[in-house]
Amino acid sequence: PTIYAITPTYYRYVQKAELTRISQTLKLVPNVHWIVVEDAEEKTNLVRNLILESKLIVTHLNAKTPPFEKFKDKERWKKHRGVEQRNAALTWLRNNLHLNIDKGVVYFMDDDNTYNIKLFQEIRKVKKVGVWPVGLVGGLNVETPILDSATGKVKGYRSGWKPNRPFAIDMAGFAINLDLMLAKPNAMFSYTMEKGLQESEFLSYFTTKEELEPLADNCTKVYVWHTRTEKPNVNGVVEGFEV
Ligand code: UGA
Ligand code: MN
Repeated sequence: PTIYAITPTYYRYVQKAELTRISQTLKLVPNVHWIVVEDAEEKTNLVRNLILESKLIVTHLNAKTPPFEKFKDKERWKKHRGVEQRNAALTWLRNNLHLNIDKGVVYFMDDDNTYNIKLFQEIRKVKKVGVWPVGLVGGLNVETPILDSATGKVKGYRSGWKPNRPFAIDMAGFAINLDLMLAKPNAMFSYTMEKGLQESEFLSYFTTKEELEPLADNCTKVYVWHTRTEKPNVNGVVEGFEV
């Protein structure tokens, strides 16, 4: 199966650095199709050139977050990020790939997280929806599904926030089989979902807690970290460089 990695991205000083890191991680992974969705009115040359240089298989899209939804620093918690962009990628998948013919797994890969290439071996095992721990998120060292020791199935979550959500899992902690994604065309992200319930409500379209497939050695290994890059202090601009 092909891994369809969906990455929303937006312009800021660290964008090129983040995309360099992610693209070079993906270079180490066989059979990936990277779907890069710019939060912009038009595709930019910065992203276009980076994609060309990467020589990865890439679909380059753009979808701008409407201004009323664009988050402001102080309202970080109220606004959803990546909604417009992930939906554009889902629409592309549904318009260009074929149920029961194209085989793959879909993963939402933010541009600023850190990924161990072992994660992609796990993602390839997903039959319906696979889950695993995510490091450095939700105010915890790790958020993880909790497995029932008798059945090996997910019985709950260790999560920094609302562990009783049906799926208390960060965007980086699950992947969905392409057939399932294509079979449920109504499954989209939305601004009406309460902040923090985006993942949980989206997963509800596809599966139940009981059906989740625990991966990464029965959810004992951390192969992805919800890292965040500090905003750099740029006090001067040297002309002639695209950083
Ligand atoms: C957490 C989750 O891990 C994200 O998957 C989720 O989208 C986000 O919360 C949210 O809904 O608010 P967080 O680190 O807070 O992540 O969010 P960012 O990394 O800032 O943004 C997530 C993705 O959306 C990134 O790939 C980023 O480049 C992109 N983004 C962010 C945009 O495309 N436009 C923006 O204005 C902001
Ligand atoms: Mn992030």
